[in-house]
Amino acid sequence: MKIRLVLLAGARPNFMKVAPLMAALASDDLFESILVHTGQHYDDSMSGTFFRELQIPSPHHHLNVGSGSHAQQTAEVMRRLEPVLVSEKASGVLVVGDVNSTLAGALVAAKLGIPVIHAEAGLRSFDRSMPEEINRIATDAVSDLFLVTEESGRTNLLKEGHDPERIAVVGNLMVDSLRRNLDAALQSDIRQRLGTSDGGFGLVTLHRPANVDNESQLAEIVAALNAIAEEVPLFWAVHPRTRERLQSANMPLSPAIHLLAPLGYLDFLHLQAKCSVILTDSGGIQEESTVLGVPCLTLRENTERPVTVECGTNRLAGTRKETILRAWRESHELPKQGVIPPLWDGRAGERCRQAITGFFTKRIPAEKFGTA
Ligand code: UD1
Repeated sequence: MKIRLVLLAGARPNFMKVAPLMAALASDDLFESILVHTGQHYDDSMSGTFFRELQIPSPHHHLNVGSGSHAQQTAEVMRRLEPVLVSEKASGVLVVGDVNSTLAGALVAAKLGIPVIHAEAGLRSFDRSMPEEINRIATDAVSDLFLVTEESGRTNLLKEGHDPERIAVVGNLMVDSLRRNLDAALQSDIRQRLGTSDGGFGLVTLHRPANVDNESQLAEIVAALNAIAEEVPLFWAVHPRTRERLQSANMPLSPAIHLLAPLGYLDFLHLQAKCSVILTDSGGIQEESTVLGVPCLTLRENTERPVTVECGTNRLAGTRKETILRAWRESHELPKQGVIPPLWDGRAGERCRQAITGFFTKRIPAEKFGTA
């Protein structure tokens, strides 16, 4: 009897976590993996290119939900996913990260009585104005097995009353993808295409609603970037949401800030590895920069990934021009050496497979198993 596991992926940061999971599960005859793409991200540059570069198999089901308000997007994933889970006779549903598709998948599965496995569980920013924080809390509230990237995740889950036996600190799936693809990424000719040399540039990404949806907030960050660009040229891979905001606000940008379309995984990883600083409000990039040992200034007041600040090269820079420039100066005066957090060794997928096997073979009654 096989374990029929439905894996759900929807948005760009999900894909580099699903890839090593699919690979680890494919190596074990006990599992049959069914990949569902919700279509939360749909542009080739936000989705298709990641499937190709990370060699993720084509999804068995594509829900094509597209963009919308949070309620519309979450509801649409739920509505379209429910019949898929029923017809696939899923033994379990595995959701990753903290996007709207993650929450939607967890809710549908939990209400069908299907065990929910959450990879990247337990992370908390303690900032409920972030849509992702609501998604994290609500997903964990209905999850049955928690696969955790860092010790803070376990601590948070225990404080919320979850059973310690359901929590497995497995390491970081995103780091599995990084380690697997770094050599290929270093072969990329992206720097030649951009006309830049080793180390003499910074890399920017920005997409959080709190940073880009409000014009005066976006202007604060742009003012800081303009000042930093006087010292080092910046390449900014612009998320579609941010592009729209920048265009409508018509903000003056330094000529040393070069706007790029969203980049593929290998090109972006190459630039991360070769730049002298990263300025970002992404979650995953805080982790990747820590593994690469590159200074990261996180343009937020908080992080749900505290290990990247405590052990790694990440610094919280805030979101005001003044705080960002202070963090920029500090990153020169007091550079952080940084160490790689425990278990971020490229073997998280394998640990996930072991934890999931333990969960199903020891805990779940046989009648819960789907049939192959
Ligand atoms: C989502 C996640 C966020 C994650 C981010 C990575 C939630 C709540 N947020 O935010 O946690 O860090 O993805 O990118 O799930 N758009 C396109 N093409 C696409 C997808 C989106 O042009 O392929 C545009 C649309 O105008 C859309 C906007 O981007 O309205 C925002 O997309 P959405 O999926 O709603 O949220 P993100 O900001 O990408």
